[in-house]
Amino acid sequence: MNMLRNNFGEEQNRMATEKGDAFFSVRDIHAWYGESYIVQGVSFDIAKGEVLSLLGRNGAGKTTTLRTLARLDNPGLKSGEIWLDGEPLHNKRAFQAAKMGVQLVPEDRRIIGGLTVEENLILAQVSGEKGWTIERIYDHFPRLAERRKQDAVTMSGGEQQMLAVARALARDIKILFLDEPYEGLAPVIVHEIESIVRQIRDLGITTIIVEQNAVAALRLSDKAVIMDTGQIVFSGTAAEVLENAELREEYLAI
Ligand SMILES: Nc1ncnc2c1ncn2[C@@H]1O[C@H](COP(=O)(O)OP(=O)(O)OP(=O)(O)O)[C@@H](O)[C@H]1O
Ligand SMILES: [Mg+2]
Repeated sequence: MNMLRNNFGEEQNRMATEKGDAFFSVRDIHAWYGESYIVQGVSFDIAKGEVLSLLGRNGAGKTTTLRTLARLDNPGLKSGEIWLDGEPLHNKRAFQAAKMGVQLVPEDRRIIGGLTVEENLILAQVSGEKGWTIERIYDHFPRLAERRKQDAVTMSGGEQQMLAVARALARDIKILFLDEPYEGLAPVIVHEIESIVRQIRDLGITTIIVEQNAVAALRLSDKAVIMDTGQIVFSGTAAEVLENAELREEYLAI
């Protein structure tokens, strides 16, 4: 444990000297659901185009952290700073954060039923600054092209996850937050979504991925942060987590 703490301490010191310089910078954020103190001083930096895995046990505060970063009203951010590409996010509301290029794909995916795949994509395009064209999306997501006329909620879980990510790209985004994108999906579909996330990374879109499937998340990540009871217990590279048996056993059960 001491080794882990030291590692984290060094990372904190390193980050402190670079304050404000990172593309995405989270500085000592504290967030509450009503009376419940959930996110208890979380800090990390991500460079442009990097993928960061945000890991930890059930109830660690991962989803709450993503919701805070996306500036949803609940939880409430009581203190700390969030910076995206030199602009403050901590003083913004969710719709303003969305306009600045922040996109959360929540665990339940929020696919709109009664609309086709294509209608879901068009709706996403008109709800923000225009990102990818529909044709470009279909080039990257051939399965969605095949199903363009299908009612979106009748698609498989994996296809719905692809649509959720594609819909995010239909808007002009700078940073993507994926909450458990692999949940309930067969390994072959996980690989397909993974390859999409790699393509997104190659296009320079910065991504935070929250996953119970830590191995799958880590293999496409540059950095990793592990949370426990609302605090960061490890911050480093994805490779460091994969190499650290103690850490994996204690917090990730892998
Ligand atoms: N709306 C809410 N109101 C009050 N407490 C909440 C609310 N949502 C979550 N919590 C609490 O906040 C803590 C962190 O929950 P969170 O959903 O962020 O965890 P998580 O790391 O995403 O877990 P999981 O891996 O199970 O998704 C938990 O104790 C949870 O019960
Ligand atoms: Mg969660």
